Amino acid sequence: MIRTLLITGSTDGIGFQTALALAQKGHRVLLHGRSSSTVNQAKVRLLRELPKAEVEAYAADFSSLAEVRRLAEELREAHPRLDGLINNAGIYKHDRVETPDGLEMTFAVNHLAPFLLGELLRPALLLAPDGRIVNVSSIAHRMGDLTFSDLQLKQGYDAYRAYANSKLAQVVYTAELARRLGPACTLKVNALHPGVVSTKLLVQGMGARGPDSLEQGASTSVFLATDPSITQGGGYYVRSRLSAPHPLAADPLAGRKLYDASLKLVGLGEGL
Ligand SMILES: NC(=O)c1ccc[n+]([C@@H]2O[C@H](COP(=O)([O-])OP(=O)(O)OC[C@H]3O[C@@H](n4cnc5c(N)ncnc54)[C@H](OP(=O)(O)O)[C@@H]3O)[C@@H](O)[C@H]2O)c1
Repeated sequence: MIRTLLITGSTDGIGFQTALALAQKGHRVLLHGRSSSTVNQAKVRLLRELPKAEVEAYAADFSSLAEVRRLAEELREAHPRLDGLINNAGIYKHDRVETPDGLEMTFAVNHLAPFLLGELLRPALLLAPDGRIVNVSSIAHRMGDLTFSDLQLKQGYDAYRAYANSKLAQVVYTAELARRLGPACTLKVNALHPGVVSTKLLVQGMGARGPDSLEQGASTSVFLATDPSITQGGGYYVRSRLSAPHPLAADPLAGRKLYDASLKLVGLGEGL
């Protein structure tokens, strides 16, 4: 089955490779980048490698909730039915910076933007016979904590802590959304760790290098977005295999609290 799949943060790194791999399999890929110029450049790059690929480009800066809303509207208009959303865009921020919405940047870009996008695109994803949401988290989530009294890390900001917390929020939200959708739902939501790949985020952000190739980094996203063996949601995958997430993923109270807090922070009245 040919799928229409949105890959956020697909101008570079693991996201671009994921889009390329999906296009190679014949799927229609919707690229996303923070600006029109970067995402159009990515489209040109992809078409240079795969001239027959079906590819579209969408721009939205995830540090702005208004831009996320505009993107969701554009997508819903262009694609009333969407087969998959791969929430891949991510950042690592050395200093505590607030977005124009007054939110801590790492939490806003890594968790709240994909949360809002997923909530707004859910009707389109539910129209697909085998819809997928794929949340690109990180093994770093295991080091995170969810301090509900200070999700914005106003106290004691540390770059790694902010990153790990945002990645934990993705995993806890994945489990909570799967619980809310229920096991019979056609839409399956799963999270993953892509491996350790020398991308901009890893090298310039964390000052590290990784042993995995871009192809390896993209492979679990491709698997979760397309493989027919995925019949359940709420999982956390490493190298395309179910793996043990942080214990908070199995805590419905934490899931509910995070879901409610996220709804409030993005200004949505009601969720599922
Ligand atoms: N690399 C690793 O070893 C590793 C390990 C675990 C998890 N991950 C996760 O993998 C995902 C992909 O990261 P990567 O390593 O491939 O890093 P990357 O090469 O830096 O790619 C990140 C992507 O996110 C986009 N992005 C960042 N901030 C954005 C914003 N405000 N609005 C819109 N788009 C934005 C970037 O766009 P620009 O090019 O415009 O910045 C880029 O397309 C991330 O979620 C990361 O947390 C990576």
